[in-house]
Amino acid sequence: MAALCGRAVVCSLAGLLVLFVSVLLIRTYTWPERAVRQWHWKEPSGMELMEEEKEQLIEALKGAIRIPTVSFSEDKQNTTALAEFGKYIEKVFPNVFSSKLITHEVFGNYSHLFKVNGSDHTLQPYMLLAHLDVVPATPESWEVSPFSGVEQDGYIYGRGTLDDKSSLIGILQALEFLLKKGYKPCRSFYIGLGHDEEVFGHRGAKIMAEELKNRKVKLAFLVDEGLPVIDGIIPGLNCPVALIGITEKGSLTLKLTVNGSPGHSSFPPLESSIGILSAAVSRLEQNPMPNKFGEGPERAMFEHVASKFVFPLNIVMANLWAFSLVVSRFLAQSSSTNAMIRTTTALTIFQSGIKSNVVPPTATATVNFRIHPAQTVKEVLDIVRKTIQDERVELSVMNSFDPLPVSSHDVESVGYQILQHTIHSVFSGAPSAPAVCIGNTDSRYFVPLTNNIYRFNPVILKKEDLNRIHGLNERISKEALERLVQFYFQLIQNADIDKIPIPHRATHEL
Ligand SMILES: *[C@@H]1O[C@H](CO)[C@@H](O)[C@H](O)[C@H]1NC(C)=O
Ligand SMILES: *[C@@H]1O[C@H](CO)[C@@H](O)[C@H](O)[C@H]1NC(C)=O
Ligand SMILES: *[C@@H]1O[C@H](CO)[C@@H](O)[C@H](O)[C@H]1NC(C)=O
Ligand SMILES: [Zn+2]
Repeated sequence: MAALCGRAVVCSLAGLLVLFVSVLLIRTYTWPERAVRQWHWKEPSGMELMEEEKEQLIEALKGAIRIPTVSFSEDKQNTTALAEFGKYIEKVFPNVFSSKLITHEVFGNYSHLFKVNGSDHTLQPYMLLAHLDVVPATPESWEVSPFSGVEQDGYIYGRGTLDDKSSLIGILQALEFLLKKGYKPCRSFYIGLGHDEEVFGHRGAKIMAEELKNRKVKLAFLVDEGLPVIDGIIPGLNCPVALIGITEKGSLTLKLTVNGSPGHSSFPPLESSIGILSAAVSRLEQNPMPNKFGEGPERAMFEHVASKFVFPLNIVMANLWAFSLVVSRFLAQSSSTNAMIRTTTALTIFQSGIKSNVVPPTATATVNFRIHPAQTVKEVLDIVRKTIQDERVELSVMNSFDPLPVSSHDVESVGYQILQHTIHSVFSGAPSAPAVCIGNTDSRYFVPLTNNIYRFNPVILKKEDLNRIHGLNERISKEALERLVQFYFQLIQNADIDKIPIPHRATHEL
């Protein structure tokens, strides 16, 4: 009896195992190829840039890099440079500024809004966003001076070559070329160029968005800076993949303060402000926020490109129903992928003390949390209080906002499909996938105008390029810049489509 029972258990276990492996394999090898859809798109006209156009484009970016539009802080920007930048684009893109189709307005003295008037007013307008300010750069550590716009080994170097003057120049240059060719859009569109994106965007993009809202403008979709085409950044993914940011993490900046009594270092208090605060911030760092993999749109990213992973990762990614725990543990190992799966905790400022023999009364620290789409500011605050568990530590919220709404990204979504189609044709068939943007952009102010905000930078980035953004030796290759212009060139033309065409063959959605 016992032996028989044992054999039955073994048999049914083996049966389950066979079933399990079959399901894994079937899901893996029947995975829908999402990238190759055949739409009836019109071929955009005249895509090849002539030599002199390439030269113009490169000079346009170099000139833009040489104007140090640095945002040091919210109250300290180089306003001389910001003003100069306005004059510069007017000089370099004469057709944009003189076209009868285009109206130009200035917001907050240095931000620019263009409206390009399309011929078909039944089509809802869309918007392209970029920003002209940059973060500071310390010349000593750079190979070349960060504001010299130097060209070296096929690359243009300088602060802003990736973030975000390349896109700004790319958009205006594409429009300039299109106007020269006599192009007239069917669908109207806006171009917004903010001047303080790196310091919250309160004076530029925010005001622009409020004004458009007052004018009752509704947008079909909006494309802003964001995620790139990644190449070799996610281990095991063996081709370039374009990531389209369909949401952004939220943010919470907290100030922690401990007020004790001052004293002399010869008879110090048993617990000092510094000691109490250190323990509190240490607890926050030692106890990361919960792993939320699978609860937000980050999971869709892996599933979209499951078939592009090397064996056996393709099996794992096509079967996250079984492997999501393993994958989330793995992603937690590296700081860049860890940021995708949880609310991150960054200790950014710590201040106390002025003299070596005085025990200071006060210690303060600043902690910045970037909130995962599956959490809210309130939830994060509750966890922080529970983790610190010390009422001597006062918490005050410096600023906060919840994660941004998730934009539509299905077959019906006009903006997403236009973007995906353009990426597919400009980046040699690279598949695209929806993803979470871990940084913030000016586009968040436009949420009242559209449900469809996409954050995408049309450049291919490798692992070593990531540190150049806001870091040292930021650069873009001349080829990448040409491709970037091609992207906007085609995007603007593709956006004239009135509705998304029916696919040739039905592809089943998950
Ligand atoms: C501000 O920009 C101007 C050029 O527009 C430049 O001459 C000046 O050195 C810049 N100032 C700082 C502090 O970077
Ligand atoms: C714009 O410039 C004027 C004069 O230069 C200044 O008074 C005003 O505060 C500026 N406005 C903004 C929003 O920066
Ligand atoms: C925009 O274009 C339409 C048709 O092409 C025209 O009737 C209208 O006057 C234009 N509007 C502006 C503000 O230029
Ligand atoms: Zn940026």
